[in-house]
Amino acid sequence: MSAGDLTLFAGGSGWSPSSWRAKPALQQPAWPDEAELEQATKALRDLPPLVFAGEARSLMSHLGRVANGEAFLLQAGDCAESFDSSADSIRDKLRVILQMAIVLTYSGGVPLVKVGRIAGQFAKPRSSPTETKGEVELTSFLGHMVNDIGFSEAERLPDPRRLLTAYHRAASTLNLLRAFTRGGYADLSRVASWNREFVATSPAGRRYSQMADEIDRALQFMTACGVTTANTPQLHEVEFYTSHEALALDYEEALTREGYDCSAHMLWIGERTRQLDGAHVEFLRGVCNPLGCKIGPTATADEVVALCELLNPQRIPGRLTLITRMGAKKVETLLPPLLRAVRDSGHPVAWACDPMHGNTYTSTSGRKTRDFDDVLAEIGGFFAAHAACGTWPGGVHVELTGDAVTECIGGADKIIDADLERAFETLCDPRLNGRQSVDLAFRVAEMLSDRS
Ligand code: PEP
Ligand code: CO
Repeated sequence: MSAGDLTLFAGGSGWSPSSWRAKPALQQPAWPDEAELEQATKALRDLPPLVFAGEARSLMSHLGRVANGEAFLLQAGDCAESFDSSADSIRDKLRVILQMAIVLTYSGGVPLVKVGRIAGQFAKPRSSPTETKGEVELTSFLGHMVNDIGFSEAERLPDPRRLLTAYHRAASTLNLLRAFTRGGYADLSRVASWNREFVATSPAGRRYSQMADEIDRALQFMTACGVTTANTPQLHEVEFYTSHEALALDYEEALTREGYDCSAHMLWIGERTRQLDGAHVEFLRGVCNPLGCKIGPTATADEVVALCELLNPQRIPGRLTLITRMGAKKVETLLPPLLRAVRDSGHPVAWACDPMHGNTYTSTSGRKTRDFDDVLAEIGGFFAAHAACGTWPGGVHVELTGDAVTECIGGADKIIDADLERAFETLCDPRLNGRQSVDLAFRVAEMLSDRS
């Protein structure tokens, strides 16, 4: 069965866009005013879809190639997007993702499927529902879709009007992304110009510019042969898709149209909300979008196979991406039993590695950070586990920004604990900066080319 046939079977028994309401829904905001919430969701129901069913179906067929071992998924973007992101910051984030993609395609030698954590990544699950400073205990920051990051009662109070702002921010971000990816910015002849900022100053930048020169020469050769960016759209445009964690179910339900959750092309279920009998699995099993599900260290093989059954009963390649986030030290022992169980069940799954969320720790200076070496080590362990099981290490899922932040330790610039305070700007988890991201792409490309 192909991705295009999924519409025929969407929904499943007893499903409706609101059937999740009969199940336990974790991590939902305590909206203070029902009437205001109803007003906001009614307004959302009347607004146009952000993405279209046909686009979600195309992504599903690309992800089908990932599940079949024929392509690699790069899913990347912010941990928590901000309502205040500037156009420049959105462009720079896209640029870093495109740079990583070009490195993986050129040096890794595989077709790339590009998906941003972008244009909707506004709701965050939290380990603790409240945050305490001194004597004051307030609701945790739950993402700009719900409340604000400032530490005051008013800022932390969930405000349903933010659901509408989230929609409008997502729409304007998406508009910008569509313009950049279709309007010439992503033209392959500009690969070198994306790198201007860090060309001379970092090893990854120098390596990148060498690669850009080679691509340039290849393009000149192709032009001489009559293949130009003007007559070959693939050289001029990039297929770029959006995704976010489908966490705030009031929002996702309100944006569901004719079986598709039209808030993004791909939606994923987080590690904290993947209960088999929970509201998130119930909601997402019925929509026709490609789905992701995070799989952390406590997941059992039976649970993972049961998730496959619930989320992809028709066994359509590309419908389900399992995003594993075990931690660098655990991945090589915890992942293989899951890979084998899914493989033996016959479920087609795209496997991606999130090397971020199992590797967060508090540094001596008290910052929540991640070490570049741990990130790399988890991806290495992911590749090793797949090699041992004969399965395809289908992709990586990373948190990054194009802004020059210092949030993660290590990388070519050797960021140390004392550097963290210089530019620690994240609203939630620590992100790789542009240089660390491009550096990571080269390392993953090496792992990919070493495989074959
Ligand atoms: C995230 O992706 O930002 C996140 C919260 O991840 P996880 O659900 O894997 O903890
Ligand atoms: Co995160």
